[in-house]
Amino acid sequence: MKVTIIGGGGLVGSCAASALQFGGIVRELALVDVNRELAEGQALDLLHGSSLTSDQTIYACDGACIPSSDMIIITAGLRRKPDESRLDLINRNVSLFRGILAEVKGRGMKPGAIVFVVSNPVDVLTYLAVRELDLPPERVIGLGTVLDTTRLRSMLAARLKVPPTQVATLILGEHGDSMVPVWSAAQVGGLPLDKWPGVTPALVQEVEKRTRGSGAEVIKKKGGAGFAVGVSIADVVHSIALDQRRILPVSSLQSGAYGLRDVAISVPTVVGRGGVLDRVEIDLWPKERMGLANSGKVLRETLEKVLG
Ligand code: 2OP
Repeated sequence: MKVTIIGGGGLVGSCAASALQFGGIVRELALVDVNRELAEGQALDLLHGSSLTSDQTIYACDGACIPSSDMIIITAGLRRKPDESRLDLINRNVSLFRGILAEVKGRGMKPGAIVFVVSNPVDVLTYLAVRELDLPPERVIGLGTVLDTTRLRSMLAARLKVPPTQVATLILGEHGDSMVPVWSAAQVGGLPLDKWPGVTPALVQEVEKRTRGSGAEVIKKKGGAGFAVGVSIADVVHSIALDQRRILPVSSLQSGAYGLRDVAISVPTVVGRGGVLDRVEIDLWPKERMGLANSGKVLRETLEKVLG
């Protein structure tokens, strides 16, 4: 599988490329960036380590790479300032993103190719990508709350001093302030979270607060997320590349799950080679359902602002 990362010279794009290199599943990685020198530098740095990682072709490219790509990951965009919400980013990033969509559409895409949106505000830009690329909605996926879910699992594990890979839960809704942690589904080692020693409402609230603020916290400390968003991107790419049909909280254009329509947002989604294969309406607590409906409303209102 050939994966092209638009924004591959930047922190998010290059960390995604590194995670895909360590994963060793995709065959070809093309890094596209407005700063060509930076994309070449990232590709060269990755290539230097390839004898210890995996047998792939990794190179810098321009838009000419798009038509032969099986997946086009769009990570390009301006980053939030620490005190800026993702939605505040919208005006700054929408015109840049529209330019990228125009290039992708103009260059043409391989039949069956998947567009994977990471740039923020990811839910709004995922919706725009469906509209402006004229693609079947199932072939446009947004990273959505996959990163938030990764963070919640990891930080809950650190707080409880348990193996992070054995913590299961997910976050749904907007990749942003209205995200919805699904505590009703949380487990540690297959056991319900609320039965785990030391778990209290205060601990749950503390970890949830830390997760919600993680994006801003990592921007403040190091300028922006890289490693965790890179592995989150690779997790989705691998479910597509291997047609694993795993249930992931990716963002996509909704057509009725949880009553959500005409908005791109994260719900439990079966992700395979064809992109969005299905959605799973797991049972949620009433307050979780309400949170998801609110998240949909927040995003719909934003879309109205952006689309006029
Ligand atoms: C974050 O939450 C980049 O939006 C991403 O860090």
